[in-house]
Amino acid sequence: MTTGGRPAGGPAAGFPLARPRRLRRTPALRRLVSDVRLHPADLILPAFVKEGVSEPVPVSSMPGVVQHTRDSLRKAAAEAAEAGVGGIILFGVPAEKDARGSAADDPDGIVQLAIADLVSEVGGSMVVMADLCLDEYTDHGHCGLLTETGDVDNDATLERYASIAVAQARAGVEVVAPSGMMDGQVGAIRAALDGAGYPDLPILAYSAKYASAFYGPFREAAECAPQFGDRAGYQQDPARSAAEALREVALDLAEGADAVMVKPALAYLDVLRAVADAVDVPVAAYQVSGEYAMVEAAAANGWVDRDRIINETLTAIHRAGADLILTYWATEVAQKLRRA
Ligand code: PBG
Repeated sequence: MTTGGRPAGGPAAGFPLARPRRLRRTPALRRLVSDVRLHPADLILPAFVKEGVSEPVPVSSMPGVVQHTRDSLRKAAAEAAEAGVGGIILFGVPAEKDARGSAADDPDGIVQLAIADLVSEVGGSMVVMADLCLDEYTDHGHCGLLTETGDVDNDATLERYASIAVAQARAGVEVVAPSGMMDGQVGAIRAALDGAGYPDLPILAYSAKYASAFYGPFREAAECAPQFGDRAGYQQDPARSAAEALREVALDLAEGADAVMVKPALAYLDVLRAVADAVDVPVAAYQVSGEYAMVEAAAANGWVDRDRIINETLTAIHRAGADLILTYWATEVAQKLRRA
């Protein structure tokens, strides 16, 4: 008997014994042995809802993404839930902004109204979350209150975050996700929620969040570009090693975070892996607006295979340790996974 043209009884001298290619030969073999799999339930859809518009407003730097009306948001959430997406995270874009971001904790503010809409539309089948920050609500575009000299005042901002958390909780939110990178924000929010009767409301902390150019398109979507300066005084410096991210994560866990996030994703897979190895809570990664826009722009030019790039980037993020992935492609990817 012969195998592959060679005599039985072992490979001819000089040929490799180990052949990793054996398990790559057919689609069925590859499918059988693959062990990094995306699942719709692990995807979270970020969504923007804008006050005072009667039609969804396209975000030009994020083709396919819109600022929703309350009505179109309900429909998008229902579609995501139908596809099996695990959660939706809301960003409100109020009609009026001021220095203290008053709309953020107004019980009738756009995000509170939209939270209530979503809980009634998809609550129970998909987790309704809200981003908890001030930049979408302040006229200066920074993530906190300013001092007279234009610095972001950490501790005064914590009081605002505490109040926003309670407003979102009263609206029915199922997870709050603080993203402002103020020191002590998780502790302040936890204390406020506990004090207001919401001890069971989880906090998904944006723990390791870098001052990134990848947020560019988001600032159009959320209309929150800083009117002066940048966020480098509170978000992390990309030029520091993962040890700093681990410290931020440890602090957030000590303050009561239930899950932690690394953001952006693709350029920070090393940080993601370090965090995933260090903690025993769910780890999320945010595939941010610039990551989305780069792929859409290149695909629109016919320079990359859009579907394969989307799948490959999400697989890489999952492989690097993300249990949960925030992605603007959540619904589309979930629908494709369902069909696969
Ligand atoms: C802050 C916030 C930002 C993003 C999510 N939450 C912007 C920022 O920090 O400047 C960016 C998300 C993205 O780029 O997709 N509220």
